[in-house]
Amino acid sequence: KRVKYKEEIVDKGGFPHYMLKEVYDIPSCLVNSYTSLMEKYLSLAAMIVYGAKNIYVIGNGTSLHAGLISYYYFSEVGINANVVSAAEFPYYALQNISTGSVIIAISQSGETSDVIRSIKMAKQRGAVIVGVTNSVGSRLALESNIYLPITAGPELAVPATKTFTSTLVVLRTLSLYTGLNSGKKDRKDLEAFEKDLEELSKQIYTSLPQIEKQAEDAISKVEKDSLYITSSGINFPVALEGALKFKEAALAHAEGIQLGELLHGPIALTNKGYPIIIIKPSEEQAFDLYNKVVKSLSDRGSPIISVSPEGSVKSVETSRDLSPIANVVPLQLMAYKLGVKRGLPIDTPQGLVKAVVS
Ligand code: AGP
Repeated sequence: KRVKYKEEIVDKGGFPHYMLKEVYDIPSCLVNSYTSLMEKYLSLAAMIVYGAKNIYVIGNGTSLHAGLISYYYFSEVGINANVVSAAEFPYYALQNISTGSVIIAISQSGETSDVIRSIKMAKQRGAVIVGVTNSVGSRLALESNIYLPITAGPELAVPATKTFTSTLVVLRTLSLYTGLNSGKKDRKDLEAFEKDLEELSKQIYTSLPQIEKQAEDAISKVEKDSLYITSSGINFPVALEGALKFKEAALAHAEGIQLGELLHGPIALTNKGYPIIIIKPSEEQAFDLYNKVVKSLSDRGSPIISVSPEGSVKSVETSRDLSPIANVVPLQLMAYKLGVKRGLPIDTPQGLVKAVVS
């Protein structure tokens, strides 16, 4: 039987919108999501991933963006994961699936049709399905050979927030366990991750009111209906995710773009009044590029909103693997604040549903 959360049984906890409440849920969800993962399932899933002939990570929207970040997690432990939209998977990736293939299927609702259709087709070709979902009784949970719960609790706002950050916890943990198999990680790395996660959760908890305020101030300068969000490395998918939040919560056109790619044409659109949100990359190798882009944009008079521990909207300082969690929070709040400023129905944007099931 599917579990459905109804608005009547989950109140807004005094917040004006579910979206804001759910961002404020993030710190506790981060820890819950980690502690709810069971060692035996993690070890089994990690063994399956390590032994795979090829690996495809699939999902849509926010779940796809979490999947894109898992590429960096898996690469670090010597595993090449192909990340593909579940909507596109049948058209070009399915042909590579056969016995020995593993699909890591991510879906908050566990009901998204693209995901369910793709895993069914992949199963027919002999793939093993590792499901990652926030919904225990969902079709994804039922169709998976093994599934890892996201455990973020009910998420009612259409713009996903806490399920994104909790999905990252699950994927990072899975990659660390896979690293135990590949020999690239050991138990100490797991302990360090656990400590970093706990610290991050505490820091986000205490900083949220300040980040909310800074997000509101930053967004008050956004006059235009279009903006770029840029970053590099593991935080590039965060730019994509931030852009998605602006579209849903604020009905603003936002485009996530890689820092280096800005210089290959898109910078032409930047001029006075055209805002650009820059998430400072976590990889030191990208710092020169970051400084160069910031300088070019400042020279052009572009209003820059910087997201970093020293930025105009401050994100919490943490490790590289957890930086997408730290950096997405200010973006979620900026999108939310712009939606509020525009008087929009943030939790239920017109024409959108929580799970795209047909
Ligand atoms: C996220 O804010 C969106 N509402 C949407 O892109 C969503 O992430 C996508 O439809 C996938 O949903 P799922 O995780 O439930 O499969």
